[in-house]
Amino acid sequence: MAYKAILVGIGSWGEWWCEHFLPPNIKDGTLEVVAAVDRNPQALECAKKYLNLSEKQCYTDAETAFRENKADFCINVVTPAHHEEIVDLAIKYNLHILSEKPIADTLEGAVRIAEKVKRAGLKMGVTMSHRFDQDKTSLRGQLRSGRWGTLDYLVTRFTCDCRKYGSWGEFRHEIAYPLMLEGAVHHLDILADLAGAKCETIYMQSWRPSWGEFKGDCNALITMTFENGVKAVYEGAKSNAVTLNWWSHEYFRAECENGTLLLNQRKLEVFPYNPETTIAKALEGEGVPIPLLQQKKWANTWLVEKFVRWLDGGERMETNVEDNLQSVAHIFAAIESARTDQVVRVQEFLEKTREKVLSEMK
Ligand SMILES: NC(=O)c1ccc[n+]([C@@H]2O[C@H](COP(=O)([O-])OP(=O)(O)OC[C@H]3O[C@@H](n4cnc5c(N)ncnc54)[C@H](O)[C@@H]3O)[C@@H](O)[C@H]2O)c1
Repeated sequence: MAYKAILVGIGSWGEWWCEHFLPPNIKDGTLEVVAAVDRNPQALECAKKYLNLSEKQCYTDAETAFRENKADFCINVVTPAHHEEIVDLAIKYNLHILSEKPIADTLEGAVRIAEKVKRAGLKMGVTMSHRFDQDKTSLRGQLRSGRWGTLDYLVTRFTCDCRKYGSWGEFRHEIAYPLMLEGAVHHLDILADLAGAKCETIYMQSWRPSWGEFKGDCNALITMTFENGVKAVYEGAKSNAVTLNWWSHEYFRAECENGTLLLNQRKLEVFPYNPETTIAKALEGEGVPIPLLQQKKWANTWLVEKFVRWLDGGERMETNVEDNLQSVAHIFAAIESARTDQVVRVQEFLEKTREKVLSEMK
């Protein structure tokens, strides 16, 4: 039987949910959308158009929708600053939660949400869409195969021309750390996943160039170390002259003992180490191509299915809210590092925040 869901938040990304992520899951019987909510009544037109919802199934207030419709879970696609109020309502109406990233717009909020969900005995998953995209999953498969030996370090690049106000969605031009909360939250999560271990230390320098029409820092250079010794470098920028690596087309390079794996613009190739040579040279595009893995669902479409399987008693999804606190810890530890110009120990930073939040919640 299809699980019943209520979609909350149909802004620019909610529209993608209506048009792309939900229909394949409705079609194959994974779920049924019984209601949709957005404060803005015009936004609800998308739910009618792509999900065939009637006027009666569309609401401008989440509480009324939760009260009037029997559902198993809600899908939280409102802006991060409002995630917690939707979580509180979901808990009140005993709904599991599938939430957009980041869990919240503060680490304290994210820890509080995870704790509230645990105390309520509910399940909450987070859609770290890009970690589950086809290209990143293919690269992860190569690294986990062991074929290329020990992973030494990772490099990634996400550089865009979004310097004009509103070009990256208005709210991102208004918040304090848009690159971190709305961009790097994915990329640092992918780096930790590729590394195969929790992040141990992080150091960030972040800034806003004078031509970037952002209130907060929109560019950053970050270094990370992981508990298994792997290291990583991240370049993220939203105010460049040109977009070299846009969403879903990021650059990732994994330097392994027996090969250099390069993923750029969704093309994966490997440059195997040849012990017979020295000072081996190559250009991008000259490696051995690796075909991307094939399956029906990727990213959020796949994550919806993983969540429903978990509700059904299956394996806990990788991005359950407790484990996914790591992704929020990365960004706030990095912000702390930029503020203090110090390397921050990420797990200690998370634990300190957890202790503070739990003592306030008693
Ligand atoms: N995974 C990804 O790749 C990805 C991409 C884009 C956005 N997102 C995430 O999706 C979420 C939404 O982002 P967006 O770009 O669509 O933002 P947006 O501002 O375009 O849309 C947010 C919508 O939520 C509605 N809303 C806000 N508070 C509400 C409330 N309490 N009740 C009902 N409706 C409410 C607003 O009216 C608006 O229509 C964010 O968490 C963002 O980080 C994820």
